Amino acid sequence: MTEVSTSSTTGGGGLSDTTYDELRLIAARYPEARSGLLPMLHLVQAAEGRITPEGIEACAEILEISAADVSGVATFYTMYKRKPVGDYHVGVCTNTLCAVMGGDAIFERLKDHLEVGNDETTADGKITLEHIECNAACDYAPVMTVNWEFMDNMTPQSATQLVDDLRTGAEVSSTRGARVCTWREAERVLAGFPDDRADEGPSAGPASLVGLGIAREQGWTAPEAEHASGGTPSLGGRKGAAERADTSRAETETEVDESPVDAKHEDAPPAKGGAKGDKAT
Ligand code: FES
Repeated sequence: MTEVSTSSTTGGGGLSDTTYDELRLIAARYPEARSGLLPMLHLVQAAEGRITPEGIEACAEILEISAADVSGVATFYTMYKRKPVGDYHVGVCTNTLCAVMGGDAIFERLKDHLEVGNDETTADGKITLEHIECNAACDYAPVMTVNWEFMDNMTPQSATQLVDDLRTGAEVSSTRGARVCTWREAERVLAGFPDDRADEGPSAGPASLVGLGIAREQGWTAPEAEHASGGTPSLGGRKGAAERADTSRAETETEVDESPVDAKHEDAPPAKGGAKGDKAT
């Protein structure tokens, strides 16, 4: 585990010289320095436990942009926190699929169990609980995250056990990844300072591969590039969709009807007055 910069305390203890140097290091990685802003903000969170005014000023000074520019980014993305985060950020997906599969019940149970509301931290400073939107992990719904690592197929019982283990310092592993570290350590990894544990634990599981198995059973294959791109083999399906937007709705419907596999890869269903049809006309 890479050591976390702890020379400053949560909420304005001051960024260390080491952190300033590392912020400059991140900026120097990019042809356009301001492209480094997102990882720089993660480093601020690793050092300060949140996005602090000093962290915003430091990023602005190094990137030679305004504090308002930095603040605009930091307040847009939900992974940047203006309030101090506990040792572990625990997310519960309450988006549609996870919600109906039990995510709502898990979130309610954890609020009661931890005695906190949404986006609040337990009195011991260990857990910050937040309901989160779809994590593109619906095949393992209901899904939770700890410091953005997946915890799959959760139940109210396994969720309470998970937070109890985190609070007591028991070793916890993601169901699809590495052992869970602290939130600040995870933020440092997101800033681009690897902890060399990226390959620890399993990765894709069977639920993620069900579609592939069905396609193989049915003999379905991806459309040939020429078919998908309307005669531009090297540019693939996305380009094909864009080009088809310039053709008539009738042509689009005919093309999709010829291939059920193709229909599965469209951005939207064939037009019958729907959004895609509106764009195509
Ligand atoms: S709805 Fe929860 S991961 Fe998609």
